[in-house]
Amino acid sequence: MSELQVLDERQLLGKTQHELRMVANTVGRMLPSVASLTPEQLADIVLTYADTIRPTFIPLLSLTWLRVQSPEAIHACRSNLECEVGEDHPAMLDRFVTPLWEERIDHSRRMQAKQRAGVLLSYAEKSALYGVSVLALLEHTSAAFMPWLADAGRKLQLTDFTYTQMHGEADIAHAKDLTQAVVSEALLLNVTQDILVKPTQDVLHLCRAMFCVEQY
Ligand SMILES: [Fe+2]
Repeated sequence: MSELQVLDERQLLGKTQHELRMVANTVGRMLPSVASLTPEQLADIVLTYADTIRPTFIPLLSLTWLRVQSPEAIHACRSNLECEVGEDHPAMLDRFVTPLWEERIDHSRRMQAKQRAGVLLSYAEKSALYGVSVLALLEHTSAAFMPWLADAGRKLQLTDFTYTQMHGEADIAHAKDLTQAVVSEALLLNVTQDILVKPTQDVLHLCRAMFCVEQY
């Protein structure tokens, strides 16, 4: 690899890291304060998140893993998938929200979440780069969202916090791997401009809907 190419990769990595951090900050600011919401409003957001992410994240990772070509992106998807499946994160999320489920089954919210889950999965079909970009964005926004989710859980008197506890250090490692994956996949395709623009719009739109931002 020539010096110029190494420099290009570093620049692209720096730019991608910066853009991902900015999106995570935007999502952090988007979240309504836990103290300002009623338990019903908090439960709505927590369940909306669970209904959207629980059935979607592993399929999105798997579909993207099948499509990516760079060794870094293959590694990032596979190691993240091993963690999601091996530790059974959907079951962890289930245990976190189960006390809310029993009281607040809302079929219209579930239908909306189903539609959002379908849209999220369609991102993996757009292209390998798009899929891995959405995954990197979600993993970064998760870092901003997990402390909020844990706070909401405490206010709602939930009891099993394994999900929010497990999504700390592992997510930081996954976010780092996925950032490199975006860069490697982009360089493989010779795409170095505006990689995250459209995926960012899609992820911010999803977050606004999941966190009921318009509503509160
Ligand atoms: Fe997870």
